[in-house]
Amino acid sequence: MSIAVTGASGRLGSFVIDALVERGVSPTDIVAITRTPEGVKFRDRAVTVRRADYDDPASLDLAFRGVERLLIVPGTEVGRRVVQHENVIAAAKRAWVGCIVYTSRLGAQLSDLRIAEEHRQTELALVRSGIPSTILRNGLHLDTYMERAPQHVERGEVVGGVGRVTAAHRRDHAEAAAAAIMTPWAGRVYELGGPTFTLAEYAEELSRISGEPVVFRRLEGDALREELIARGVPGAQAAHEAELDAAISRGVLETDSAEFVQLIGHQPMSLREALREALAPKATAA
Ligand SMILES: NC(=O)c1ccc[n+]([C@@H]2O[C@H](COP(=O)([O-])OP(=O)(O)OC[C@H]3O[C@@H](n4cnc5c(N)ncnc54)[C@H](OP(=O)(O)O)[C@@H]3O)[C@@H](O)[C@H]2O)c1
Repeated sequence: MSIAVTGASGRLGSFVIDALVERGVSPTDIVAITRTPEGVKFRDRAVTVRRADYDDPASLDLAFRGVERLLIVPGTEVGRRVVQHENVIAAAKRAWVGCIVYTSRLGAQLSDLRIAEEHRQTELALVRSGIPSTILRNGLHLDTYMERAPQHVERGEVVGGVGRVTAAHRRDHAEAAAAAIMTPWAGRVYELGGPTFTLAEYAEELSRISGEPVVFRRLEGDALREELIARGVPGAQAAHEAELDAAISRGVLETDSAEFVQLIGHQPMSLREALREALAPKATAA
């Protein structure tokens, strides 16, 4: 069984390849696909690495030779991704790939959610392709919050809206993707939630684990966007984060962990565990 994983040089893709090997897939059955083979970070060197670009159908045709199952990790160029993903799906069809798993995102079914539109279009393209597909609608990445945790501790403040964030660590999302590609169900859509928390709860937990006072300050919409820009976040990123925050406040990105547990066989990492891992060197007793 040949399993190909795109985005293999990235964080999610690398974790997926590690998870496939940990779950017993032979490395020689795995094809890692990236534009930058020299940049792969997964551990097993016996995995085949092939170069391909979502913008270059001929490179995809070569990369998908002999591939039976395909995990598509979305591209990173917002605004170009529908065309890119359609290229990937069309190449998979030409290569007679038997089934596809796509890591979409929560809210992808909502036609008015701009941040999810490219995922919605990709899901539709998969349906139109006729290739049996499993969709994993991932919540936010918990580790993105963890990357920012030291800054939040330093500032003593977290800003944002009052909605409940749904987020899981990339390693858990990767495990879910590995499980799904090893046992594909045609037409199955999973909503992969993970722990949910408000930013006020996040700030409280951060204080407890770091031993430093961290408060939550409510800030939404344009005020949030402007504050992020003032803190050095690029304009497009700040606008994206403010829009995401608004969606979280509307509750449209919230879901529980039931389908996650069903796929990976255990609870995804909690906020507390993730914070302890992120702040390990200066953690005090919680
Ligand atoms: N659910 C969420 O909250 C959330 C949060 C962040 C990201 N995401 C999504 O998850 C995806 C993966 O996240 P990540 O953290 O693993 O990102 P990452 O570390 O930046 O990796 C992105 C991967 O996509 C590949 N890629 C990008 N454009 C490509 C192209 N034109 N052709 C071939 N490969 C291409 C990159 O390969 P190269 O080496 O070729 O550049 C890289 O391997 C992101 O693209 C994003 O859509 C979701």
